[in-house]
Amino acid sequence: MSLYAKHLETVTQRFDKALEDNQFESVLVYAGQPRVAFLDDNPAPYKVNPLFKYWVPVLESPKSAVFYKKGAGKPTVYLFQARDFWHSQAKIPEEDWQQHVDLKIIDSLDALVADLGDALERTAFIGEDFAEPVSSWTVKARNPQGLIDHLHFHRAVKTDWEVHNLREANKLAAKAHIAAKEAFYAGKSELEIHADYLAAMNFRESQVPYNSIVALNEHPAILHYDVYDTEAPAVSRSFLIDAGSLYKGYCADITRTYAKEEGFYADLIKAVDVAQQELLSEIKPGVSYYDLHVSMHHKIAAILEQFEFITIDAAAAYEKGITSAFMPHGLGHFIGLQVHDVGGFLKNDKGDSYPRNERHPFLRLLRDVEVGQVFTIEPGLYVVDQLLEEFEGSSDINWQRVDELRPYGGVRIEDSIVVGETENENLTRDAFKALGAE
Ligand code: GLY
Ligand code: MN
Ligand code: MN
Repeated sequence: MSLYAKHLETVTQRFDKALEDNQFESVLVYAGQPRVAFLDDNPAPYKVNPLFKYWVPVLESPKSAVFYKKGAGKPTVYLFQARDFWHSQAKIPEEDWQQHVDLKIIDSLDALVADLGDALERTAFIGEDFAEPVSSWTVKARNPQGLIDHLHFHRAVKTDWEVHNLREANKLAAKAHIAAKEAFYAGKSELEIHADYLAAMNFRESQVPYNSIVALNEHPAILHYDVYDTEAPAVSRSFLIDAGSLYKGYCADITRTYAKEEGFYADLIKAVDVAQQELLSEIKPGVSYYDLHVSMHHKIAAILEQFEFITIDAAAAYEKGITSAFMPHGLGHFIGLQVHDVGGFLKNDKGDSYPRNERHPFLRLLRDVEVGQVFTIEPGLYVVDQLLEEFEGSSDINWQRVDELRPYGGVRIEDSIVVGETENENLTRDAFKALGAE
């Protein structure tokens, strides 16, 4: 049985249980369609419904849908191929998935409605429904939260097919990261580095799963920096790139940081890298991800002490909240069909959830670690002046050291990890190693 066929079996079983527990007979997962910009007729880039690509690796066929009836064992895929001389048709190569579903090609949504007949009004609809005729369909429920929570909870544990795709996405992204690194050392601008990154993967910009962060000098301090200077700076001191890729709908999300020269900043990158690898060794089934996040804070506190950013000891720096000023975001998040994959707050498939943690409000993964989960581990350390304002004038912080780091912005190292019974797989480092890098 192919990896995809096994994946489909798991997805089918997960939908059977989700439909059963939420008392639905069937589900229609709509792929979605592009929105047009306000007062304009140009479409915004289209992003397929993640629950559609969970069934089939089709990313570019808006107005398609998957219909699944509980217990059927096999979905029907309505693949939309417009009869339209204005646009090119979505290219759907012949692939294994087509052998495992009932495939129906449609050229209008009326054909789907006619084919489903009165089953439509008994089905749960999942998808965006801002446009006609979808918004007027009579269905049993639209995006029922209970059904979605059930599906989202179980998505955290990946099938072998999903891990395979995540591995391939990391290989693509690692190749592009190497091109970006070379562009940095060649003194290129942020925009040029970004172009080299895309070219190395043969991607257009709308195909990457999130806006790449391509940040030189002070810019790594802006956590989601994605505006890109078009001119190269006179001197490129530091480079943080947080950029991903996509393979069959599955995402990579990798961050690397580089120094132009040896010295204090290069040493800081090495220290964060060592801390990141120590954290990787703490990942075990049963450990809470929250505890890993707190462990990361203690490691960042130790680095702050070692590099003399603080005048107090590491433990006191954590207690006083100083580490949160230097490292404000979460340790990481689930990754899969979405970069920030779903279900990080869910306690169970009934939809009970963990509240955001007050001390660490930006952490979006509060579940215990389980075999088969895939998540990122991405510690960092930055000069975010807005956050340091809270400690203005405090003698706990060595402000001269902060001033020395500011021209470099900060550091982040991010890998994606598959949790195993006894050993974990580092999708990202393995991808770099296979390319002879790192
Ligand atoms: N690239 C977004 C993140 O690392 O979460
Ligand atoms: Mn991430
Ligand atoms: Mn990232």
